[in-house]
Amino acid sequence: MGMGNFFKNKEILITGGLGFIGSNLAIRLVSYGARVTLVDSMIAAYGGNLFNIESIKEKVTVDFSDIRDTKKIEKLVKDKEFIFNLAGTLSHVDSMVDPMTDLEINCRAQLSLLESVRKFNPKARIIFAGTRNQYGKAKYLPVDENHPQEPTDINGINNIASEKYHLMYHAVYGIKTVSLRMTNTYGPRHQMKHERQGVLNWFIRKILDGEQIELYGKGVQIRDVNYVDDVVEAILMVAMAEKGWGEAYNLGGTPISLIDFVRKTYEVISSVQNKVQPCKEIVLKPYPVDRKKIEVGDYIASIEKIKKTYGWEPKTNLEEGIKKTILFYKKYRKYYW
Ligand SMILES: NC(=O)c1ccc[n+]([C@@H]2O[C@H](COP(=O)([O-])OP(=O)(O)OC[C@H]3O[C@@H](n4cnc5c(N)ncnc54)[C@H](O)[C@@H]3O)[C@@H](O)[C@H]2O)c1
Repeated sequence: MGMGNFFKNKEILITGGLGFIGSNLAIRLVSYGARVTLVDSMIAAYGGNLFNIESIKEKVTVDFSDIRDTKKIEKLVKDKEFIFNLAGTLSHVDSMVDPMTDLEINCRAQLSLLESVRKFNPKARIIFAGTRNQYGKAKYLPVDENHPQEPTDINGINNIASEKYHLMYHAVYGIKTVSLRMTNTYGPRHQMKHERQGVLNWFIRKILDGEQIELYGKGVQIRDVNYVDDVVEAILMVAMAEKGWGEAYNLGGTPISLIDFVRKTYEVISSVQNKVQPCKEIVLKPYPVDRKKIEVGDYIASIEKIKKTYGWEPKTNLEEGIKKTILFYKKYRKYYW
């Protein structure tokens, strides 16, 4: 059965549904005729934005509860066939400044959501958003799922715990859970107000504004960058499958240094505007102390496991992904700046 037919009329809950990945996922599911409920507390520092769901607002149910509110979550998980669990904090730096909030949202609330599912809806399938941040500094490249997990920050540690809760609920209770360890994702509907989460989109904003780009170190640190539609596709392919539950899978896209991602964005923007946007001087700066201590160095994911199990691989090339992102923000800039 095709993806569209599969999700038609399915009851779906997306936590963090007004955020970047959640809203892109919701738009796709609505196009398939799924019945989608979004839960998002719209905490100001994170990526939630009502405009993200402007095109589907009449077709989804929105609940502004916080996932830390157990009673609300107990109600919301009932009768859902799929739970896409994307609510979470992402900022590595914030997690060091305010570790208890990171713990509350990324661990306690996640465990509590799983308890609600176990008690009230154990047949639900749950896809959890893990992160490459769980690995810390890579000891070898590409990083496969067996690579040691030694995070350099609180956010990484809490994500490991949360992933393990999810996978344990499969091992012990048979609940269908999967964790997808996502890497740096970019694209439309990402927050553009600050640089504490989503460095790639932040560069795109700076270039659109004609501002200088500051890179730490020499700017040659490699990230495995992924376009959001490919991430959405992975989430849906896994959710549909009858196999592979209770496991974690890496996602990955195009490995590229940050400086080359910036250069590529200049190139694409020049072609979109039909005039050369001069590549402003890129300023190389020493790492600030708080970032240096948690910097992970190069990261490239091995995606063999998800490819082999589900046949997923990223399809969007870098030029295409950057172009779609630029066109989106040129059009809807006022809702994001
Ligand atoms: N974007 C990436 O590059 C990336 C990389 C690795 C992992 N991830 C994971 O994917 C998930 C989604 O990321 P995103 O980029 O869409 O982030 P985002 O900030 O755009 O979306 C997350 C949403 O969750 C909501 N949220 C946060 N805490 C909440 C709470 N306590 N209750 C209810 N809602 C809450 C926020 O308001 C926000 O709208 C996160 O769990 C993140 O760890 C993302």
